[in-house]
Amino acid sequence: MTRTLAALLGTAIAASTLTAAQAQEVNIYSSRHYDNDEQLYTGFTEATGITVNRIEGEADELIARMQAEGANSPADIFLTVDAGRIWLADQAELLQPVDSEVLNARIPAHLRHPEGHWFGISQRARIIFYNRETVENPPQTYEDLADPQYEGMVCLRSGSNIYNLSLLSSIIDADGEEAAREWAAGVRGNMARDPQGGDTDQLLGLVSGECDIAVTNTYYFLRALDGGVDGLSGSTDMIGWVFPNQSGRGAHVNVAAAGVAVNAPNREEAVAFLEYLSSPEAQAYFANQNNEYAAVPGIGLAPNPASLGLFRSDDLNLSVLGENQPLAQTIFNEVGWE
Ligand code: FE2
Repeated sequence: MTRTLAALLGTAIAASTLTAAQAQEVNIYSSRHYDNDEQLYTGFTEATGITVNRIEGEADELIARMQAEGANSPADIFLTVDAGRIWLADQAELLQPVDSEVLNARIPAHLRHPEGHWFGISQRARIIFYNRETVENPPQTYEDLADPQYEGMVCLRSGSNIYNLSLLSSIIDADGEEAAREWAAGVRGNMARDPQGGDTDQLLGLVSGECDIAVTNTYYFLRALDGGVDGLSGSTDMIGWVFPNQSGRGAHVNVAAAGVAVNAPNREEAVAFLEYLSSPEAQAYFANQNNEYAAVPGIGLAPNPASLGLFRSDDLNLSVLGENQPLAQTIFNEVGWE
């Protein structure tokens, strides 16, 4: 009898332990699509014992899904790239404020939402690349890209692309709406071809000779340096780069960013996950595995990003990229930068 009771009791304890263990989970809706990110999730589980469940998709799909799920959404974390994109989720009231001493201390103020709706977790710069053989005086600023001396030389992707919307949003902030409109028209007039393809395609255009000057995020070029980007990796020597606006506001940077979902069923675990993303271990991952820059100061550069050199980055609060996004889209449409 006693033995049976003890056995039953044992079972009950085991069951309740199991229930507690099962409750330790976090549900992540992610539009980051980098294979290496798996390390982040296993690293978090190893550090905290919290299980990670992941749903991956395009940012727009995940936002629509969270809206459809409403109060019953299992989403704890929304993770995406580009401050302009996470702004869309915030506009849709899908994120909630987080006041974490850890996050506020580690992540610079301009890389996070003023009220903690989202936090930048890694940085990338959007910079100028050029053909060293054909361009003697490469543009030194974003504004220079509109200079008539570069007529027929410039390649950039579509004006509906979030990276370009965020870049133009930063130019609206720096130079004002009218100057930003003139700039967009000038760059459009300097284009070597109609906007097409992704960032890698702009770099490929330098190699093919179709383009002399391109604007892309740093990690696309760094990936080519790593090898394995068809048509590009063997030709990186002919490509030079400029971190723009170094004697002014600095190069435009953007972030991968994450926030806690407004209806998060596992809020504590979600905050723990964000704090883990800001840890030295996770930040070193962003620098070393994905050719990005850490968001947290003091994390060393990986060899690839280090080979591009140090640079001054624009410290505009990235919330502005979202706030100016509708105007940026209007301007791109107006100047025919489709
Ligand atoms: Fe990208």
